[in-house]
Amino acid sequence: MTDSDLPPRPAPAPRATPPSDAHRAWVGDAIATIAAELNRSADTHLLRLPLPALPGIDLYLKDESTHPTGSLKHRLARSLFLYGLVNGHIREGTTIVEASSGSTAISEAYFARLLALPFVAVAPEGTAARKLEQIALLGGECVLVPGAGIYAAAARIARERGGHYMDQFTNAERVTDWRGNNNIAESLFAQMSREPHPVPAWVVVGAGTGGTSATLGRWVRYRPRYAATRIAVADPEFSVFHAYHRDGDASIVGARGSRIEGIGRPRVEPSFVRELVDEVIPVPDAQSLGAIRWLERVIGRRVGGSTGTNLCAALALAQRMHARGESGSVVTLICDGGERYADTIWDASWLAREGLDPAPHAAHLRDATGIG
Ligand SMILES: Cc1ncc(COP(=O)(O)O)c(C=O)c1O
Repeated sequence: MTDSDLPPRPAPAPRATPPSDAHRAWVGDAIATIAAELNRSADTHLLRLPLPALPGIDLYLKDESTHPTGSLKHRLARSLFLYGLVNGHIREGTTIVEASSGSTAISEAYFARLLALPFVAVAPEGTAARKLEQIALLGGECVLVPGAGIYAAAARIARERGGHYMDQFTNAERVTDWRGNNNIAESLFAQMSREPHPVPAWVVVGAGTGGTSATLGRWVRYRPRYAATRIAVADPEFSVFHAYHRDGDASIVGARGSRIEGIGRPRVEPSFVRELVDEVIPVPDAQSLGAIRWLERVIGRRVGGSTGTNLCAALALAQRMHARGESGSVVTLICDGGERYADTIWDASWLAREGLDPAPHAAHLRDATGIG
């Protein structure tokens, strides 16, 4: 192979105007503003759920719904802004654009407002109205497009407005500091340190971008103390992650989007790192929606659907451990609150339209756990 066989090098991108002192000062202030926001934020709680029917197994819920913007995406949005700022992608007045099922967009709208930047959320048609209202309340603009079109539409809008496309699906796994900086792994493992089983057998999360599972998968490899901890992904209907994890075919495409907002994707997302996930557990949507009704009876408040998917997978692993005579702890996430989904998963007519009956699954969990 000679140089002449190599494909021609792409012409180097014209160098943006050298960063002016004013620009550097603005970036410095912006980063200080984000650091101050972090300093004002308390860490999220870790709830312990006793399971009388599964003695020896402790279940924990990391409650990410208590973030200022109501979901686990608060951490990702902070990281995406810091990454955009230090790389010169975000400048004073830059329009921020994101493709999102709503949670990330709410968190990004919050940070955009903190930095006085215009924000555009490109969301799939059918996104919960309450989420869109929250984005608008935070000063964001919402653009609705058919599900599969959110990526291209977001990139186009950013180009047309000379803005910056945050692209969570590509960047989630790279913008999060997996070694620390209060990432979700550092936080939950520190909170487990005084528990009877401080090294969890399993940590169970859903996957939208895949960023959360990647951060956890890297952490348990980076910290030898957690070598025994396995990472499982709970996958709803209409998602390709399960088949991709099994077969490794990244070109697989699903027929439609997921009904459990925030998780399950009709394509393999760049931030879903297959090698960092030990098991993917498919969970039927009716079971996920039964689980959140069971949890409402246990903790007295409503959560989002992805938490139900997490719970089903976590309890299936707890039952498997119990059946094998193992003891230990299983940790999963409350990803967001249920108030956002009053018009969808918590609405009887929406359930009827979707042909979903969660009631028998809520009852099953009550018997299987001994509470609720
Ligand atoms: C409510 C909810 N749960 C879970 C997730 C999954 O998180 P990740 O994107 O880190 O895979 C998302 C992602 O958007 C979400 O919105």
